Amino acid sequence: MMDTGYDQIASAPPGFFAEEVTSVHHWTDRLFSFTCTRDPTLRFTSGQFAMIGLVVGGKPLVRAYSMVSPAWEEHLEFLSIKVPDGPLTSRLQHIRVGEKVLIGRKPVGTLILDNLLPGRNLWFLATGTGLAPFMSLMRDPEAYAKYDRVIVAHTVREAKELAYRDYITQELPDHELLGEDVRAKLTYLPAVTRESFPVMGRITTRLESGAAEREAGVAPLDPAHDRVMICGSEAMNADCKALMEARGFVEGTNNAPGSFVVEKAFVTK
Ligand code: A2P
Repeated sequence: MMDTGYDQIASAPPGFFAEEVTSVHHWTDRLFSFTCTRDPTLRFTSGQFAMIGLVVGGKPLVRAYSMVSPAWEEHLEFLSIKVPDGPLTSRLQHIRVGEKVLIGRKPVGTLILDNLLPGRNLWFLATGTGLAPFMSLMRDPEAYAKYDRVIVAHTVREAKELAYRDYITQELPDHELLGEDVRAKLTYLPAVTRESFPVMGRITTRLESGAAEREAGVAPLDPAHDRVMICGSEAMNADCKALMEARGFVEGTNNAPGSFVVEKAFVTK
């Protein structure tokens, strides 16, 4: 047997489901995604995250991962970076179809529609794997019921890191249940910062200059009408949060919905 660096899971430790991996996709040498079965009793809201991982040396080794899949989907999907010396991702990147992963029984998180007030345009600001919760939310019919437009601004270093680009542009508009809403309301704004691409530059820079709204063809961000969800690195989150607050946006919580919410795109190890 090849030494994978992780144990094959026979039964789930307390607090977890053991789910079978059903597909693995390697986007780049730094980025992969996988799907797995979903226990019928697992409940979550689109945009939330769960603790997921492996068993290593007999113990759970888990990190927070946003669900890529929407709440209504039968299976689960996750998007992950690969960090060569990261305790979990250096192992998880070798996962194969038929093997089992741990899925925490209690998903949580702030990037949920209930934490935002109703409004006009709903913006998703994502960098890197921060796209994950928005893949879930852009497939939740409630997003289209509550807002006139849903704008997905995904910024990465290089174009090949624009995960799900083909899915969003080619497949989602023809989706049996969501296609009509997607065609009428979803705007996808892919951007790249470190090589030539039709739209270049950080989302912060493009919001400061008003370029992002022009790219989307919508009115300038206005806290009276627009809502924003932010998910990226610690620095990206902090910069976007400051930018929103400077414009009068108020952070929403599980107790009091607001005009923006923010969460870390977790796994960095
Ligand atoms: P840049 O290439 O200018 O650093 P990372 O992989 O480091 O998380 O970066 C993913 C994307 O997020 C990159 O396009 C990167 O731009 C951008 N980024 C990094 N830090 C920030 C920040 N503080 N504010 C906005 N965008 C950022």
